[in-house]
Amino acid sequence: MKIVEKLGLKLLYKTDPENAHHLAIKALKYGLTPKAGVYTSKRLKQNIAGLELPNPIGLAAGFDKNAEVIAPLLNTGFGFIEVGAATPEPQKGNNKPRLFRLNEDQGSINRFGFNNEGMLIIADRLSKRPNKGIVGLNLGANKNSSHRAIDFVKVLETCGNFIDFATVNVSSPNTEKLRDLQGEKALTALLTGVIETRNQLGRQIPIFLKIAPDLTSEEISQIAQVARHTRIDAIIATNTTLDRTNLMSKHQIQTGGLSGKPLFEKSTRVLAKLAYELEGNIPIIGVGGIDSAEAAFEKIRAGASLVQLYTALVFHGLSLGRDIAKGLDSLLEKNGYDHISQAVGSGIQDYL
Ligand SMILES: Cc1cc2nc3c(=O)[nH]c(=O)nc-3n(C[C@H](O)[C@H](O)[C@H](O)COP(=O)(O)O)c2cc1C
Repeated sequence: MKIVEKLGLKLLYKTDPENAHHLAIKALKYGLTPKAGVYTSKRLKQNIAGLELPNPIGLAAGFDKNAEVIAPLLNTGFGFIEVGAATPEPQKGNNKPRLFRLNEDQGSINRFGFNNEGMLIIADRLSKRPNKGIVGLNLGANKNSSHRAIDFVKVLETCGNFIDFATVNVSSPNTEKLRDLQGEKALTALLTGVIETRNQLGRQIPIFLKIAPDLTSEEISQIAQVARHTRIDAIIATNTTLDRTNLMSKHQIQTGGLSGKPLFEKSTRVLAKLAYELEGNIPIIGVGGIDSAEAAFEKIRAGASLVQLYTALVFHGLSLGRDIAKGLDSLLEKNGYDHISQAVGSGIQDYL
């Protein structure tokens, strides 16, 4: 991390977390953030779900909810980024405060509730994105929607021609009953509709499904089965958790989804279980508590082909994506891997 970035982070710590986030978006807009560019190597390059990735480190959904800073984010060094969640209608989200930094735990709790400017504004911004770099969109549903499954289809129809992948997010804990869409019947219907819509787009983009970490083994097996039947292209494991085990911060009592370091173990266990069920048939993107090259390596050993992160940026700054890609390259080499794919799932037993 450069000294300017360190000073910036110190200032942001003193501010309310949501304001700090707005300031970070502003800093990106005005070119005040790292621009080292994407780190890549022969060892890290992969084709996953038809996407040519320069490195496996992605920015997770929720950081750039309104697709405002795509170009500067790509310049910080991530191999791919996911913007959104976008819903059909603009939505304010829950009342403030709704974002809490758990400094002692290196985590955060949020209950934003899909605040976003809506699919039309987001589609317009996406249509003007640079044509280089890999950019996905997290699809969400409006809180007051009478048919949530149709919301995902609407957002995909409107934005699908401007993105490289779309994620069906049925795992946010902050929209009541959204997680119920992870059940076998509802999920099959939802994914079938989304895939039909994708097939009618000008671009045949891959469709990902993002799942919660608070699932039983049985639920994970069911999701794996649905994923195989509906032929989705990848699964993102996981979103934030409702679990509050082993926390120190006074903010642990807040309602919402917990992310960051305290989520690492739980999300990695879900990832490994899913990898075991999928037997390599569908790639997995591992998310939850990644804050170092070592943590990214563990997700890969547990079965992830790609990873994403968000919360650690709050504690380590925006150059973290590039730093992890570089560190991971060295770690793979040190462990005798010529290519990242050889390491995927190599330590799955440690997390089952
Ligand atoms: C403030 C905040 C907002 C988020 N918003 C979304 C969202 O809109 N859609 C989504 O799928 N995940 C969202 N997430 C979850 C992240 O994408 C990620 O799955 C989770 O935070 C775990 O990764 P991390 O520990 O690296 O943060 C959000 C997370 C945070 C902290």
